[in-house]
This record gives sequence, structure tokens and C-alpha cells, in this order.
Amino acid sequence: MGEVEGRVKGRILVVDDDVDGATLLRGGLQRRGYQVHVIHTGETALTWLETHDVDVVIAHLRMSGMSGIALCNALHDAHPGVVTIVVTGDGALASAVAAIRAGAYDYVAKPIDLDVLVIAIERAVGHVTLGRELRRLRLVVAATQPIGSIVGDSAPMKKVVAVVHKVAASDATVLIVGESGTGKELIARAIHDDSPRRDRQFAAINCAAVPPLLLESELFGHVKGAFTDARRSRPGLFVQAQGGTVFLDEIGEMPLEMQVKLLRVLQERRVRPVGGEEEIPFDARVIAATNRDLEADVAEKRFREDLYYRINVVQIALPPLRARPGDLLALAQHFIQKIAARTGKPTVGLSTEAARVMVDYDWPGNVRELENCLERAIALTNFDQLAVEDLPEKMRLHRRAILATATGAPSELISLAEVMRRYVMQVLDAVGGNKTMAAHVLQIDRRSLYRRLHSEKAQARAAG
Ligand SMILES: Nc1ncnc2c1ncn2[C@@H]1O[C@H](COP(=O)(O)OP(=O)(O)O)[C@@H](O)[C@H]1O
Ligand SMILES: [Mg+2]
Repeated sequence: MGEVEGRVKGRILVVDDDVDGATLLRGGLQRRGYQVHVIHTGETALTWLETHDVDVVIAHLRMSGMSGIALCNALHDAHPGVVTIVVTGDGALASAVAAIRAGAYDYVAKPIDLDVLVIAIERAVGHVTLGRELRRLRLVVAATQPIGSIVGDSAPMKKVVAVVHKVAASDATVLIVGESGTGKELIARAIHDDSPRRDRQFAAINCAAVPPLLLESELFGHVKGAFTDARRSRPGLFVQAQGGTVFLDEIGEMPLEMQVKLLRVLQERRVRPVGGEEEIPFDARVIAATNRDLEADVAEKRFREDLYYRINVVQIALPPLRARPGDLLALAQHFIQKIAARTGKPTVGLSTEAARVMVDYDWPGNVRELENCLERAIALTNFDQLAVEDLPEKMRLHRRAILATATGAPSELISLAEVMRRYVMQVLDAVGGNKTMAAHVLQIDRRSLYRRLHSEKAQARAAG
């Protein structure tokens, strides 16, 4: 393959059974700075391309053996990153159209005008570069962006998303832990959707919601006549999810006898349906979730240690919502848009005070509670911004346990008066500036509240 001095403008493969014509073309293109390789049949070109990279293929339409159209088709299927320019006979527009339908990017007519060809090549190279850049960006985006519907880019959530991407590619068993409503099921689905198993079933079961007696047949299936109601045999979750993912939600609630059976199934990768003799092999990825402290349960013999180690291969710990205030506002905005779109309400956001109250609240029900809270607030409001009054009373009255006093450094310790001052302000904020309510929360009368506020204002004036 000949090269000229300097930067190569692009790598070109010329496919032409006319040896003289191809040599002439190669010379012309090399003089213009392209790297050119010549092959005389379509079949050889396809084989060669399996081990070589080019940007543009210039193919003659009329060749002995594989036709240019057939080559375009094959290239389009096997090498979507390569663009093809076809060379048509004099005035053969119909065949040019056929070639473009077959996936060619452009065409030039014989006799070849090198200037015209170079313009076509440059456009094609630009197209290739753009395509590559797009694919690269898509990969970068896919690797860094929250998947699908996972909202939140706080540091802990970024870490979670990174682990999701990493484990999705493998078949490793994953244990997702976190308080109720933190998004464990969402993350389990995200792992499945991001995995090579995405086109197969995501079969979920809530171990706490299924009566213990039924759990075994739900998971492993049963044969006909296994018990009174079993008129037909039924495959269990593990077999249904063949090639897919089994999600065992609330695994901490699984009865101990079932834990023993599950452990065996996970070790042997086979299930024995209830009442059956035969064992059925399965191929399903297992993800489990719990809001319990399984290590404590293991210590207290409520959860089998061997099963714990079997499922705790990769652990994803979802932080509670109160630990990621940044996500809270992003999630609130996400839900407001979603709910408003569904209900046709004009609600578009939160007032500053409402946002502050929400950030201060401790969200024991996490994201699920946030979603419910907004659902209710949007149903009740007629304004385009949710105000403090639209939030549940318990949230408005919520007093944050952590006061502004909790700093470590001695230089930052503050006086009792300052603690009181900050606390009064905090309570006022939390109740949306309603002084009657603030006085009620503080258990002082309104006059003392006013007094404190005035001394607060006096201090602010003195300071400002
Ligand atoms: N990061 C998040 N982004 C968007 N929605 C979330 C997020 N985390 C949780 N949710 C939503 O909150 C609700 C509760 O999540 P879920 O996965 O059922 O929690 P868990 O299984 O931990 O109880 C669901 O509607 C879920 O879609
Ligand atoms: Mg759940």
C-alpha cells in the first residue's frame, strides 16, 4: 500500500476487476494524499476487510463475479462503519439508484473525473468521522449517564450507577440493600436492562408478599398433582426467566427452610419442581434485595450465613434520600414534571421555601414517599409552584434533629443565644414564615417570638 508524505487524508479500498483502470485511480488518489489499496473482486474485498480498516470503499458496479450491488449489500451488513462510493457506467443512473438503495453512500460516473471523486470521498470521510464520533459519544454517555429512568447525580448515586454499568455486563449475583423506597427494584431493573439479558424476562417476586407455602412452587414450579390445586404442572420463576433475570425482593423475609432450598438451587443451577423427581437446569441471573440488616440477621440466626455469602457477591447499597439532598430536588422536579404531564396540571416547580422544607425533612419513606407527597400536593394545588402550604403538616412541623450547633471545631462553637436565634429562624423557615405556627412549635407565645425576631433584626442591622 503506497503512501505520500504527511498526514493521510483517508484510507480507501478500490474494488475493480479492471486492473489498468484501478492502477490509474490508485495513482491519482495517492497523489492527493489518500492511502489506497486495490482489490480485484468483491469476494476478496470482503475477506480483506475482515482484518483491515478503511474509511471508504470505491466499488465498480460492473464486475465479473460478485456484482457491485451485491458488494454494497454485504458491506452494509458486515461493515456498517465503512461508506461505499460506487462507480457506474456512462449515464447508468438506474444502477446508481439501485446501488444507493443497497447501502452505497454516493456514486460517480465513468469516465472518472478525479476532482469530482475527491469531493465525493471527502464528503464520505466526513460522514464516517461523524458516525464514529457519534458512536464514541454514545458510548461515553452510556457509561456516565444514569440509565434510563434513574434520576440523581449526587456522588453516592453516581457510584451506584457506575457499579450498575459494571455488573450489568457480568452474570454476578447482586445484593441490593437500602431502606424501603430508595429505588432497589428500579436498580435491579436497570441492571437487567443494561445487561446482555435485556431481551429476556425480568421475573420479580416479593418474598414477603407470597405466603411461605406457595413460595417454593412460585420459585421452582410444581408438577401436576403436586398438591390439591395443581391441576397442571407449572414452571417456576427460575425456569420462566430462562436467559433473563430473577429478582428476589425482600429476601430477608424468606423462611429458613426456603433459604436452605434456595441455596442448593443457586449452587447447582437446577430446580426441582414441587412434587417432581427431575431437576431442571436453568440459566438466570439472580438479583436479591432487602431493607433488612442481613448481617445482623445472620448473627441472630434469622438468615443463613451460607446463603448470605452466596448472594452477597456484589453489593449495592442505596443511600437513603436524606443523605443526598442534591438528588432530592432533581427527583422532585422529575416527579413534578411526570405527574403534571399525566394530570394536565400546570405545576412546574417548587417555591424556595417548599424546597427548603423538603430538604430539611428526613424522608423515612425515601423516594416513594417523595413521589406520593408530590402526587398529593399537585392534586391539591391550583398554582404553578408548589408552596409550603401544599406539603403535609408533619413535614412543615418537622424539626431537624441536627442543629446548627453540631460543629466539631472549638472555634466554631456558638453561644446559647445564637443557637436559639438560629433555631427560631429554622423553625420559621420550616413553617413557611407562619408566626403562629412557629410559636406553637417553639412552645412560646407570640409576643416572645416577636421579641426574639426583633432582637434578631436588631442584630442583623448591627451586623449589616
Ligand atoms: N433514582 C430514582 N430515580 C427515579 N425514580 C426513582 C429513583 N429511586 C426510586 N424511584 C422511584 O421511587 C419508587 C420506589 O422505588 P423502588 O425501586 O420500588 O424502591 P424499593 O424497592 O427500594 O422499595 C418507584 O416508583 C421508583 O421508580
Ligand atoms: Mg421494593
